[in-house]
Amino acid sequence: FLSGFVTSVRVMLPRPESSVCPVTAACHPPESAAAIAALHRAVLAWYDANARELPWRISPQARAAGGRADPYRVWLSEVMLQQTTVVTVTPRYQRFLELFPTVDDLAAAPLEAVLAEWAGLGYYARARNLHKCAVEVSAIHDGVFPDTEEGLRSLPGIGAYTAAAIAAIAFDEAAVVLDGNIERVMARLFAVETPLPEAKPALRDHAAALTPQSRPGDHAQALMDLGATICTPRNPVCGDCPLATWCAGRAQGIAADLPKRKRKPARPVRHGTAFVIRRKSDGAMLLVRRPEQGLLGGMLAFPATAWGERGDAVPPVKADWRVAAEPVRHTFTHFHLEMDVWEAEISTAAARKLDGQWTEDPAGAGLPTVFRKVLAVIG
Ligand code: ADE
Repeated sequence: FLSGFVTSVRVMLPRPESSVCPVTAACHPPESAAAIAALHRAVLAWYDANARELPWRISPQARAAGGRADPYRVWLSEVMLQQTTVVTVTPRYQRFLELFPTVDDLAAAPLEAVLAEWAGLGYYARARNLHKCAVEVSAIHDGVFPDTEEGLRSLPGIGAYTAAAIAAIAFDEAAVVLDGNIERVMARLFAVETPLPEAKPALRDHAAALTPQSRPGDHAQALMDLGATICTPRNPVCGDCPLATWCAGRAQGIAADLPKRKRKPARPVRHGTAFVIRRKSDGAMLLVRRPEQGLLGGMLAFPATAWGERGDAVPPVKADWRVAAEPVRHTFTHFHLEMDVWEAEISTAAARKLDGQWTEDPAGAGLPTVFRKVLAVIG
């Protein structure tokens, strides 16, 4: 009896979407000009009340009062935020800006200083490109970033996403900004069930159809914030979402399952060995700079074998080697690494024959995370 009662009540309840729908025809997905205009108003009203305070951001109120974001800061934050979370980036961004307050300061700094400051953020090609781009903006554009998506796209290391994001956020150009968060919002709003990456062109078309001429920068940042705080990958808080009225994914009860993704092939495990070589006289350790091309290119590191099949390691110097009890484990985009750590102390005369730099403070040398883990296993 009770379950029958509950069922009949549910059937009689109006659907919440249709009860608040501002246009009479199907509201979800938002396709009519009226629905899109209403959606723009709702997104911006939500952003005006809920924008996250982020150190590179001009708040919507400050923006309305005539404030403009500094393109250098927007660029720096966007490059840092690729593949790295806001929580990790925020303190690093602030430190970076203190060291390199302008694009000319960054251009004038040695690449090694920029790489060391990037240590731990991963994807080090980003830091090399960042420096290259700063040099070009400083030398060729007199320290002034181009103010169009097209002009930005021509700079080294600035891809389609970054150019659109800077053009929208710093210059209020109606560029189509599509990051992972916005892809998820679009997939749900339009109930796109095609898996990623095949769905990308369709998601881009949807994002383009929704990009407004008015306040495009705030609109893009609003969608980023929605994706980060409400339209989250798991357990989206649809009850608080300003887009709920227009959300086809919600109407179909499939929002939380979108976007679908093609299963990635499992990461293989690669093996290698890192060598911690201590100099007898002062205990300093040897660090080497990794080749520019390749993984962790240009970064300081302990000497190490190539990473591949398990095999016999050939150390760079004859010594009485001890093997650390635990290997270092680290996951890169395309593989898991298990790296043995060998330690030895060598005479100061033998140390002189080795290329590299000796340091008593490897923790302060700007090592990438995988080599910081070497320090942890040797205790
Ligand atoms: N993620 C990437 N870019 C962002 C931005 N400008 N604001 C917030 N989150 C972001």
